[in-house]
Amino acid sequence: MRFCRSDRRDAIRRQDYEMNDVAIPDLEPGIDHYAVMGNPVAHSRSPRIHHEFAQRAGHRLRYHAILVARGAFAEALKAFRDAGGKGLNVTVPFKRDAWQLARDGLTVRARRARAVNVLWFGPDGAVCGDNTDGAGLLRDLEYNLHVPPLNGCKLAILGAGGAVRGILPPLLDKRPAQVVIANRTPERAEKLAWSHAGDVPIRACSYHGLEEEATKGEFHLVIHATSLGLTGKLPPLPDGLLAAGAVCYDLSYGSEDTAFVRWGKRQGAAQSVDGLGMLVEQAAESFLLWRGIRPDSRTVLHRLREELQSLEAIEPGG
Ligand code: ATR
Repeated sequence: MRFCRSDRRDAIRRQDYEMNDVAIPDLEPGIDHYAVMGNPVAHSRSPRIHHEFAQRAGHRLRYHAILVARGAFAEALKAFRDAGGKGLNVTVPFKRDAWQLARDGLTVRARRARAVNVLWFGPDGAVCGDNTDGAGLLRDLEYNLHVPPLNGCKLAILGAGGAVRGILPPLLDKRPAQVVIANRTPERAEKLAWSHAGDVPIRACSYHGLEEEATKGEFHLVIHATSLGLTGKLPPLPDGLLAAGAVCYDLSYGSEDTAFVRWGKRQGAAQSVDGLGMLVEQAAESFLLWRGIRPDSRTVLHRLREELQSLEAIEPGG
């Protein structure tokens, strides 16, 4: 391991949210290196996914998971680039930092999202960034799940944080009839709705405000994007939000149904699914940007799902 600012050798393995070190693994020469940076990051399936993509495509590469202290993302990025790293995925809480650092090399998608989840380096070391979260979600909805057309549908988004910033622009491009963003802090949802005002009507409200919508029961797609998903909890949702044939989609995923997936099933959704497909599809988009080919994401998704389910069988309820 090679460290910046400190030579404590166990830093990369510590789940210490307050740590001050940047720990970059030794990057073996003669092979391309990529990584996901986040905090926490130990749970990340991205190394598994990218190694599977690479194996299937016949590419030699290494993909690392790097824990970065809050406030140390710029330093970690520079250390990885200077060590010869080719590209990065960026997860919570650094997507906004990544957007700022790639400011001179942003794709249109990243500029619209104001958040970046994939980075690579130009020949002069310039930092380039894209946001593949929205493309990953749409690909999962349309290609893997065959949901009814989003054009003309009524869409509810639960949450107004960084995750929503990435998915909202491509969802709006599909021209739904109406979008409602519900959030614990309605001001945040209002800000998001205001900044995306255009042809598609967007309404912001609190979860309490959803009760009015529930009387009409007409959402065709409900997307859960709060960080509560990680804790197994749900925002307070009224019954009766779903139209006939509605789809519920949770950006979180797990070895068993998430709380939101269970809620969707209880509410009679035609499909109620977690975000594993989006994770694999956004990774496939990253792989395409870095390596020039789009991997067979669907096969990898099936494989990952099986692995997660066998985990459930070993650790019921874990
Ligand atoms: P992310 O990048 O994962 O979206 P974030 O930007 O911190 O993370 O946003 C977290 C989202 O989860 C927000 O919508 C947040 O609601 P607030 O804007 O009101 O904070 C939501 N969230 C987090 N904890 C919550 C809770 N206990 N109840 C309801 N919503 C919660």
